[in-house]
Amino acid sequence: MPSPTGLIDLRSDTVTHPTPEMRRAMAEAEVGDDVFGDDPTVIRLEERAAELLGKEAALFVSSGTQGNLVSLMAHLARGTEIIAETESHTVMDEAAGHAVVVGASARTIPARPDGTMDPAAIAAAFRDPSDPHEPITGLVALENTHAHSMGQPLTATYTAEVAAIAHERGVPLHVDGARLFNAQVALGVPARELVEAADSVTFCLSKGLACPVGSVVVGRRDFIWRARRARKLLGGGMRQVGVLAAPGLIALRDGPTGMIERLADDHANARRLAEALAAMPGVWGPEPGIPLDPARARTNFVVFRVAPGRRAAFLESLRGEGILMVEYPHETIRAVTHYGIEAADVERTIAAVGRAAP
Ligand SMILES: Cc1ncc(COP(=O)(O)O)c(C=O)c1O
Repeated sequence: MPSPTGLIDLRSDTVTHPTPEMRRAMAEAEVGDDVFGDDPTVIRLEERAAELLGKEAALFVSSGTQGNLVSLMAHLARGTEIIAETESHTVMDEAAGHAVVVGASARTIPARPDGTMDPAAIAAAFRDPSDPHEPITGLVALENTHAHSMGQPLTATYTAEVAAIAHERGVPLHVDGARLFNAQVALGVPARELVEAADSVTFCLSKGLACPVGSVVVGRRDFIWRARRARKLLGGGMRQVGVLAAPGLIALRDGPTGMIERLADDHANARRLAEALAAMPGVWGPEPGIPLDPARARTNFVVFRVAPGRRAAFLESLRGEGILMVEYPHETIRAVTHYGIEAADVERTIAAVGRAAP
């Protein structure tokens, strides 16, 4: 499916448009009042999500941010603390909801190049609950895939190791799985296994899965009840919202009629882009002065840098050719492949970067 805008928009996989089948499903969706629990399409989506991730129950929410926030609200009391990666979306990019709404502080640990936090550092980050000076550690959070490490997928073994550290100390584990199905496809391991050890998970329908709106939170029944209450508090209780849930049921279908298997194309496109960029003069990897290693493009992110001071002009030059990328932290540039970006678009992008980078 070619880009609906005519642009090669690599800023994010959130720019995807719904498929024609999704639009038809939206128009025809059976609906009810979801705050009363009456919307049959939402109920089907929540049942499908819970089944797919091997959890008891699920909750359809407006966004990944809302999914993470209601999860924190359901897990945490005021004055508690989360342990999370320093540049994780939950800490950096959700308007400090953990602090503003939940009343929780964040104790952060930097990621290693593979997107993981050192398990020993996680264990050492727990507070002493007998010391009245300290916040009380209430949650450990992981991000899978981990965006700032170029979308590295986290394995089931690593997640289980972190869960064991948390559970030994009586604390739950939340996974921000905004791109969990990218991790499934990259690792060849079902998402259910990747999050088996986690107590709660948020995943997004509106990124590479191409739905226009929405994320889903999954977990135990009692947790989902608290998350549902939190969603209401935030004004996120929606009514005939089956029109938005309907595309999710298409996205989560098994096999080639769903949108999960298709993520493999995005990964192949990202790898091709990374391989070509790595061979170009004037392009480096995310760390200053270090060549771009295309093997790090394991999902749909490519993060790179151009010569110091050249970033704005580089992005402007691409924009002039109808190609959009975005500034990323630490003077880097991010390109994200997704539904609507085809192999030919990647070749056009490579040629344009060749003109703009040196
Ligand atoms: C890792 C990660 N988590 C959560 C979110 C939040 O999703 P949303 O934009 O739907 O709020 C994003 C959005 O890009 C993300 O990249």
